[in-house]
Amino acid sequence: MRLASFLFFVGFAVLLMCVQWRSVVCAMGDDTLRVGMTLVRDAAFQGAVCLDGSLPAYHLHMGFGSGANNWLLQFEGGGWCNTLDSCYHRSLERRGSTKYMARYEPFIGILSNKASQNPDFYNWNRVKIRYCDGASFAGDTMFQNDTVKLYFRGQRIWHAIILDLLPKGLGRAEKALLSGCSAGGLATFFHCDNFTSMLPKTATVKCMSDAGFFLDVRDVGLSHTARAFYESLVDLQGVEQSLDRNCTSARYYPKQCFFPQYALPYIRTPYFILNTAYDAYQFHHHFVPPSTDLQGHWRQCKLNASLCNPVQIDILQGYRYEMLKAVAFFYEYSKQGGMFINSCFAHCQSEIQDTWFASDSPRVHNKKIAEAVGDWYFDRNVAKEIDCAYPCDTTCHNRLI
Ligand SMILES: *[C@@H]1O[C@H](CO)[C@@H](O)[C@H](O)[C@H]1NC(C)=O
Ligand SMILES: *[C@@H]1O[C@H](CO)[C@@H](O)[C@H](O)[C@H]1NC(C)=O
Ligand SMILES: *[C@@H]1O[C@H](CO)[C@@H](O)[C@H](O)[C@H]1NC(C)=O
Ligand SMILES: *[C@@H]1O[C@H](CO)[C@@H](O)[C@H](O)[C@H]1NC(C)=O
Repeated sequence: MRLASFLFFVGFAVLLMCVQWRSVVCAMGDDTLRVGMTLVRDAAFQGAVCLDGSLPAYHLHMGFGSGANNWLLQFEGGGWCNTLDSCYHRSLERRGSTKYMARYEPFIGILSNKASQNPDFYNWNRVKIRYCDGASFAGDTMFQNDTVKLYFRGQRIWHAIILDLLPKGLGRAEKALLSGCSAGGLATFFHCDNFTSMLPKTATVKCMSDAGFFLDVRDVGLSHTARAFYESLVDLQGVEQSLDRNCTSARYYPKQCFFPQYALPYIRTPYFILNTAYDAYQFHHHFVPPSTDLQGHWRQCKLNASLCNPVQIDILQGYRYEMLKAVAFFYEYSKQGGMFINSCFAHCQSEIQDTWFASDSPRVHNKKIAEAVGDWYFDRNVAKEIDCAYPCDTTCHNRLI
């Protein structure tokens, strides 16, 4: 009884401290590490602000032991805004303004501080970079009329955050990994080589995209839905100047360098491509966008792959084939590259604990995602895993909704 009330008191005291020390790390009741937000105060002078003009932010948990000089930076994801209207609405919520973001973020999966959940990176310095620009950290322009002011400053946010982290130890990094999921995975392609060039020449620097390999493919109605969407995004947010120069000068349509399949061959830093072959986001928004299914024939299949009919499965196999085609050169020729393309219906597998590293997490050739990424990063083993086609994989955690 006395012990119980003592523990209650301790718990209450910790909670109070969490509330008071806004920037302090807090381990809440469920044992999940929650890390407080750091606003980048100097960013405003560099014009590096969120859509609404608020300061950009990150969450940093310091490394320790053998990981004290190693750095993992993770871009947060969360779609894009490609029109003035959608960006204006975004600027009023957490995807476009740090004013509306949660101040504490759970650090799980690749961000976890527990060796049992994150065997290779748990004791590194780990940073979650918040996403508030709507263009995968790559725009640099603004919009203003009498009523609305919108900042498209993702490129500057990237730079301001790196400049803020360099004196905190990033500038002395021995090992570093730039990763991200979805729109954040896409952001890694834009900044990977720039990241390398800002770190010490002696550092080992690598990059990883999780669910960021958005394909330049036609949808089931044969329209270029994905291409049109990203083209309007590049135009609105002034992204073209951030795209790889070698890529844009080589392509007839420079804006296509927004797609990883065209940009990747020009990136010199070692890469890891983590993606499902039937990415849930691309399936719903790019392969079979609502405009191609006004009758609702895909409705069930979009919710649960085991309800797809044989024709739909054939179409989805076609998209898997497109994915494998797009990474074929990388699979063949990249000596330092790694990949993990599993045949699951999911989106983002590194920042969720049960897909990154757990007793029943997804495997290809009996290897879990955290193991494949670790093998690749530390050169322990070749890590280029491609799964057999659906429905052969019984280890998937399918998440279509
Ligand atoms: C400013 O731009 C927004 C977004 O395009 C538009 O909705 C609004 O009507 C414009 N306001 C004026 C005064 O032109
Ligand atoms: C990296 O990008 C920033 C802009 O975001 C630029 O100012 C800087 O010069 C780049 N660094 C190198 C070494 O290219
Ligand atoms: C990009 O272009 C520059 C200048 O032509 C060249 O030195 C460099 O090797 C190229 N990089 C890649 C990865 O092709
Ligand atoms: C998907 O459909 C199958 C077949 O009807 C069913 O057994 C399964 O429970 C469904 N899965 C989900 C996640 O609803």
